[in-house]
Amino acid sequence: MFEHLSSLPPDPILGLLASYRADENPDKIDLGVGVYKDEAGHTAILQAVKEAETRLLQSEETKAYIGPAGTPGFNAAMQELVLGANHPALVANRVRSAQTPGGCGALRVLAELVDRAKPGATVWVSDPTWANHVPLLGNAGLQIKSYPYYDRSSGSLQFDAMVETLKDVGEGDVVLLHACCHNPCGADLSREQWQVLVEMAQKQGFTPFIDMAYQGFGDGLDDDAWGLRLMAESVPELLVAASCSKNFGLYRERVGLAMVIYNDSAAADTGQTQMLSAVRGNYSMPPSHGAAIVESILTDASLRANWEAELTEMRERINGLRAGVVESLAAAGAAGDFSFIREQKGMFSFLGINPEQVARLQKEYSIYMVDSSRISIAGLSQSNMEYFCKAVASVL
Ligand code: LMR
Repeated sequence: MFEHLSSLPPDPILGLLASYRADENPDKIDLGVGVYKDEAGHTAILQAVKEAETRLLQSEETKAYIGPAGTPGFNAAMQELVLGANHPALVANRVRSAQTPGGCGALRVLAELVDRAKPGATVWVSDPTWANHVPLLGNAGLQIKSYPYYDRSSGSLQFDAMVETLKDVGEGDVVLLHACCHNPCGADLSREQWQVLVEMAQKQGFTPFIDMAYQGFGDGLDDDAWGLRLMAESVPELLVAASCSKNFGLYRERVGLAMVIYNDSAAADTGQTQMLSAVRGNYSMPPSHGAAIVESILTDASLRANWEAELTEMRERINGLRAGVVESLAAAGAAGDFSFIREQKGMFSFLGINPEQVARLQKEYSIYMVDSSRISIAGLSQSNMEYFCKAVASVL
């Protein structure tokens, strides 16, 4: 049966890793996949994670199944991290969640939940959005439509065009928003813009679906959740996919949270049976190890303080690199204004060069980035900055 299958091109993001690893140029730079790297180009395990793992090795008593929802302690701690303590939706017992294999698992399970509630519902995604949003949501049966979000030529948000497109979207449709550190463009909604979207959701009745993959990488844990929390206070129903890949550096452990705010606690109980049935029919239950680490960090004051300090260090390094690359591109004589990179947030920005220029950077300089010219800022460092900026200047 399989001889009729046609082969597919490599994944646009993950495929870059293989080419990068095979490249023997000692000056090669990986700006592809969104993985934090330190100044030495290393993705180290956070100290808080190591410590939590050590404790876990001592205290873990069983490897028996944990069930489709994961552990209650993880779910409760994550709900609080995302929504803040005593959020009105938590107090009203309207929130249900499931520990998932990464943010991807959360997106997929929530998409299945939407499809069960309204088969083939339309989900509106930003143009551009993370490439994997489309298969994760689409393969669950949802129809995908897009709204304008980012203008590559000016390096800025197209908020008026976004509002214009979404103004007729109503009940039964879902609107996917990035909580912070937009992937791929790095341009985030301002507080005023969140307020406008909250009012639109209230008035028009669409269901917001917020992907929060980078909490803590933009302005801080609470600031990055500001829009999400406002939305959660203001609308009857909300879907949230959260990831612990980046802020806990637990990429390969696959840790995420699928969270739903329902209209009332009875609807929440019913909805949870559907979500857990979607989990059971998909991957049965999540892996335990990574989530146990997160639970341990979030519920222990000293581990939590250490983790927050490490997260702050990662965020500040990225912000320093953002400012540094703008200056160095100017010093290298790169044509154009790149100051937008300094204003944007999180791991990514578009450099704004064309696919031919991206291909030249790879071929001539062993600099790897996604075709769209999305760069993962943490792949830069003081030691490769000049090489990178001169190479960019030469292809412009
Ligand atoms: C990225 O966008 O690079 C990350 O979210 C990793 C991935 O799975 O694509």
